[in-house]
Amino acid sequence: MIVVTGATGFIGRSVMRQLNGRGIAARPYIGRINDAAALRDQLADVETVIHLAGAETRGRKQLLHQVDVLGTEQVVKSAQFRNVQRIILLSRLNANPNALFTVLRVKGRAEQLVSQSNLDYTIIRSATVFGHDDRFTNMIAALAKWTWPFAWIPGHGTNPMQPLWVEDLARILADTVTRTDLDKRTIEVAGEERLRYEDILQQVLTASGMQRLAIRPRPQIVRTIHSLLFNWWYYPPVTRFELSLYSAIPDVTQVDSVRSTFGFHPQRLGQNLAHLRRRRLRWYLFALPPSRYEARRRHKA
Ligand SMILES: NC(=O)c1ccc[n+]([C@@H]2O[C@H](COP(=O)([O-])OP(=O)(O)OC[C@H]3O[C@@H](n4cnc5c(N)ncnc54)[C@H](OP(=O)(O)O)[C@@H]3O)[C@@H](O)[C@H]2O)c1
Repeated sequence: MIVVTGATGFIGRSVMRQLNGRGIAARPYIGRINDAAALRDQLADVETVIHLAGAETRGRKQLLHQVDVLGTEQVVKSAQFRNVQRIILLSRLNANPNALFTVLRVKGRAEQLVSQSNLDYTIIRSATVFGHDDRFTNMIAALAKWTWPFAWIPGHGTNPMQPLWVEDLARILADTVTRTDLDKRTIEVAGEERLRYEDILQQVLTASGMQRLAIRPRPQIVRTIHSLLFNWWYYPPVTRFELSLYSAIPDVTQVDSVRSTFGFHPQRLGQNLAHLRRRRLRWYLFALPPSRYEARRRHKA
């Protein structure tokens, strides 16, 4: 039996579909990640935990520490208590406990907690992920809808990225479950195309049928506008970390990272942008992540 934390999230939903599709017995973890009693209860008779829960999309420092660091600590402790054999942790490229950027720092600390435990583990460090319900391509497109006739580029637009399709990442995580040769390893995965942010923007604009003039405001202006507009949002469409990621943190690794470890070619960005033709795209900016809608529905029911 496998338990998946963060199963209701953007990546978690694809992972659950992959596992169920392969006939692998998996259930979502239900409850808050810092709840020791719920974790101990739900990890009884579990062999593997796929740990995806994280607060990256909310962007707040304190919450990131609470969920990504203290939450992971609690997952590790509860897994040890229940003799879980293995934990598969989803992390990010450039994760480092001493990183300047909070998201990368908390990911680095979560990696340490997992790798220094006595559990078998595999850490998958992924590049930024795109897909139907992402908060990456959808937000770039939704923002461009509002800023007609311009599309804003944070930084110079030359920062390199290798976006990975969410279904490919889900396949990697599902493969990892059955791959004992990946024990005690940290593996980096990313798409095979190395794209500059401005190329990604162009692909997003084309896919959503928009024509915009790309402009590069000074970083201080972008940061100020971002703070004024988005800092107080519960689910900001773009977090401060994402601003830095798009402008200054190379989100790259070996271009054949997926093929060399998992034996398949991940899909290209342009192959999976059909979701950007959705109606009312501009309102996506204000949309809660689907997991939150589900939570509300469950709550009402
Ligand atoms: N998206 C990317 O490009 C990317 C790339 C590399 C790594 N990652 C990592 O992959 C993981 C999943 O990312 P995602 O894009 O799927 O994010 P997401 O859509 O925001 O999903 C986050 C998941 O974590 C759960 N969660 C958050 N706080 C929680 C808490 N206190 N207790 C229990 N569950 C909690 C959420 O459930 P609720 O909604 O119910 O709170 C949701 O199911 C994160 O750790 C992220 O850092 C993401």
